[in-house]
Amino acid sequence: MHAHVILAAGQGTRMRSRLPKVLHPLLGKPLVAYAVEAALALRPERLVVVVGHGAERVKEALKDYPVVFAEQEVQLGTAHALLQAEPLLMGFPGPFLVTQGDTPLLRPETLKALLDRLEKGAGMALLAVELEDPTGYGRLLREGEEVVGNVEEKDASPEVRAIREVNAGAYAFDGFLFQALKEVRNENAAREYYLPDLIAIYRAKGKRVVAVRGLAEEALGVNTREELARVEEVLLRRLRAEWMRKGVRMILPETIYLEPSVELAPDVTLWPGVVLRGRTRIGEGCEVGAYSLLEDTVLEPGARVLSHTVAQGAHLYPGASAGPFARLRPGAVLREEVHVGNFVEVKQSLLHRGVKAGHLAYLGDAEVGEGTNVGAGVITANYDGRRKHKTLIGKRAFIGSNSVLVAPVRVGDKALVGAGSVITQDVPEGALAVARGRQRNLEGYALKKLSEE
Ligand code: UD1
Ligand code: CA
Repeated sequence: MHAHVILAAGQGTRMRSRLPKVLHPLLGKPLVAYAVEAALALRPERLVVVVGHGAERVKEALKDYPVVFAEQEVQLGTAHALLQAEPLLMGFPGPFLVTQGDTPLLRPETLKALLDRLEKGAGMALLAVELEDPTGYGRLLREGEEVVGNVEEKDASPEVRAIREVNAGAYAFDGFLFQALKEVRNENAAREYYLPDLIAIYRAKGKRVVAVRGLAEEALGVNTREELARVEEVLLRRLRAEWMRKGVRMILPETIYLEPSVELAPDVTLWPGVVLRGRTRIGEGCEVGAYSLLEDTVLEPGARVLSHTVAQGAHLYPGASAGPFARLRPGAVLREEVHVGNFVEVKQSLLHRGVKAGHLAYLGDAEVGEGTNVGAGVITANYDGRRKHKTLIGKRAFIGSNSVLVAPVRVGDKALVGAGSVITQDVPEGALAVARGRQRNLEGYALKKLSEE
């Protein structure tokens, strides 16, 4: 059984942000969560996260994971960071896996390969990758299979800079680790305690240091916003490919954004520019129109979202549709065959089977019965300046255009509300309610005015 340490104390000054680097969101999750999840996939006996910059916020962000925290109060380098985990690992004989909080593309199978190399007799194994552009990374010095050194960019001569094989920042160590860490010195350009200096210390002890080769993208570390965007692109490409393999149709896939928490069924169609976030679930055969954003929204099989719709915390049943230009807010429930159309906003409202609200309406804190038609421009006035109130509309009712239903109010089954009404009292079942100024026609008045001019 192994223990695992993740180094996540750095500030990440090159991000130019108030947010600690490892908390920058990557597809809806903080950067450091990717390192934590990769580590947990191998079921370590203990997982220590070393925190420093924004420690409290990092701890809060990771509160749902089975991890323990060590604090590094001043950031003196990666070797110094790792040393802070020692008190939490007393009595652990090793092996130890060590990774960085800013390299989110590392795969569990690669970590497993590092551990396997220790079992085959190495004292230390590290992940090496070859990069087209190795700028910024530690360059590895080799003697055949063995690694004999690592040189950081800042300390490298032009010849060493030309080396394209780099240290990806993932390591496995035997039980000599913490003893070796105490021998690391900070005699380098950055005056930092470098973790890769352990290569020389292990070798001086007569131990073998070997490299495991990984995919180039696994080394992608996030030190700048540009690198964050690049990593995001790689993750998105992986996600899209996975869903397309499972039967999702994507039109212009590279324009589609989706988070790992989203679930899609076969024969879902996603048009260009779609954004899917959070716990969004899309059932078989559903279609999401161009430039729509769905967050924590459920589409049951056969529901449809037309273009430019924004939905958060909504639920659409089979045959329901929303858009184009619909706005569904938390608690919007569209039962079977409901249609919510152009510029209609729905919040915390239950629309029963077959309700139609095609144009320019606001339905908030309402329940609308089966088959009711909500005309253009209808508004439920749910807020009196202090509290929210409910509007209850029965089955097969008809609410005329541009009416205001001043809540709390009820409209009975099969009732009719005349266009332009302001309804402040309940409307009984089957009644016609008209609440507006009666029309007067003054014969010839307009003509007379004209002749006077
Ligand atoms: C490090 C490696 C480099 C490797 C690269 C791969 C060192 C000295 N260099 O460089 O060889 O190619 O990663 O991505 O290790 N951290 C702390 N405390 C500190 C310093 C850093 O916790 O005092 C954490 C950071 O939060 C970060 C990780 O360690 O998550 C790596 O630190 P960073 O400064 O980004 O190292 P690199 O320069 O990228
Ligand atoms: Ca880094």
